[in-house]
Amino acid sequence: MSRDPTIESTRVDEDDDVEENLRPRNFDAFVGQNAIKENLQVMAESARKRGASLDHVLLSGPPGLGKTSMAHILAEEMQVDIHVTSGPAMEKPGDLAGILTSLGDNELLFIDECHRMNTVVEENLYPAMEDYYFDIMIGEGAHAQSMKLTLPPFTLVGATTRSGLLSAPMRDRFGYVARLDYYDEQQLKSIVERSARILGIGITDDGAHEIARRSRGTPRIANRLLNRVRDYAVVDEIELIDADLADHALERLEVDEAGFDYLDRLYLDALVVKFDGGPAGLDTLASSIGEEKNTIEEVVEPYLLQEGFIQRTPRGRIATASAFQHLGVPFKPSQNSLL
Ligand SMILES: Nc1ncnc2c1ncn2[C@@H]1O[C@H](COP(=O)(O)OP(=O)(O)O)[C@@H](O)[C@H]1O
Ligand SMILES: [Mg+2]
Repeated sequence: MSRDPTIESTRVDEDDDVEENLRPRNFDAFVGQNAIKENLQVMAESARKRGASLDHVLLSGPPGLGKTSMAHILAEEMQVDIHVTSGPAMEKPGDLAGILTSLGDNELLFIDECHRMNTVVEENLYPAMEDYYFDIMIGEGAHAQSMKLTLPPFTLVGATTRSGLLSAPMRDRFGYVARLDYYDEQQLKSIVERSARILGIGITDDGAHEIARRSRGTPRIANRLLNRVRDYAVVDEIELIDADLADHALERLEVDEAGFDYLDRLYLDALVVKFDGGPAGLDTLASSIGEEKNTIEEVVEPYLLQEGFIQRTPRGRIATASAFQHLGVPFKPSQNSLL
């Protein structure tokens, strides 16, 4: 499905570098998520004072909310190295063994997309998380022998966009589960202002607010939109981004008044118009707009749910009055009385 790749979570090379530059390096620079920050800071300080490893931490939430940044900040707080891998990157237990045996005392192992781990690899991770050992098989067939490999104490930091897909034994082994929320306008505004400062972009208070308001509650999107709006400013030789310029640029980028992008609108349009407000099942919706179910559940729906544009019911998704209103379609409550 054609969606402007620069404003979603799909990675774009040039924006990747920018994103790296803009990554907050410590908790002070990390805006929002205050309760989580406080808990992690206490945990980290206590662990450091005891000379122990930090408890395993699970960071869950939609793409672009700061999970990777937070993992790096934790390593910084603990003053230890961080080793980075992802669920799908570890195909067999040997891959995991290789990574685990490279860890030093109290170091961090960051596993991104940990809900997408192969089951056998995942089962091998349990004893490592719980008792710091790894069962390794030596030899083959009848001569195969299992050997216990002792590991140093370490911290697993897992990140997932779908905590619901994590197995219960896996989830239970994390000492702290942090669920990152979408950011409010004020927080996004300070992120836009911080990014503009770092990138040397002139922006007014209103300009920053306009971008913040239309960033889908997501810092990564706020930064991407700031970059795109800056492009318009550069081309038009405008030195200061104000609300008018931001609005004009965002309209051209097909980011609407509510901050919804092309795919959000495609989804809402299908649910409201094609399916009369629902209820419609995920499979039906996905095939009707030609988008992956995964993307819909991971990226599209969480924000629409949180903003009250859709609801999930046992019979399927339904559109709320706000969704009808947003599309300029008269709301007929009877459509939803099937509930
Ligand atoms: N709380 C925050 N404060 C400031 N910038 C943030 C924050 N969270 C995310 N960002 C910005 O968004 C970008 C994406 O964040 P990232 O940690 O990669 O998200 P995730 O891993 O959850 O997809 C970061 O590079 C950073 O620029
Ligand atoms: Mg990440």
